[in-house]
Amino acid sequence: MNLLIEAASRSLEKAYNPYSGLSVGCALKTSSGKIYDGVNIENSVFGLTMCAERVAVFKAVSEGNVDIEQIALVASTGKPVYPCGACRQVLFEFNPNTKIHLSNGKTLVLMEILPFAFSRDALS
Ligand code: THU
Repeated sequence: MNLLIEAASRSLEKAYNPYSGLSVGCALKTSSGKIYDGVNIENSVFGLTMCAERVAVFKAVSEGNVDIEQIALVASTGKPVYPCGACRQVLFEFNPNTKIHLSNGKTLVLMEILPFAFSRDALS
C-alpha cells in the first residue's frame, strides 16, 4: 500500500492542471503486480478534463491489464481525496472489490462507496 501511495505521489508532478491548480495522482496495481500511474489532465473545454484514476485505468486496460486489484490516490493539497462518481463507475467495471488507498492511511472497498452500481447484469 505504501508503495502505491509513493507511486501516486511521484506522478503528481506530471499533472496538467492550468485551470484548477490541483494535482491528483493515482497509482493502480494489477493482480500480476504491474503498477500504472495516472494524473489529472485538464482542458480549456473544462468538461473534457480527465481524472487521474481514469487515466491510470485506461493506461492499464489499453495494455491488456484489466485485473485491477487496488488503487492509491493522492492530491497536492495533502488532504485525502475520494474518487469522483465517474471514476467509481469506471473502476467498478473491472473489479467491484477494488481497494482504494487514501493518503490518510484509510482503505476503502469500491463497492462500499458505489452501492447499487449499474453493472453488466443490467444489459441482459
Ligand atoms: N480530479 C481527479 O483527478 N480525480 C477525481 O476523482 C476528482 C477530481 C481532478 C479533475 C480536475 O483536474 C481537478 O481534480 C479538479 O476537479
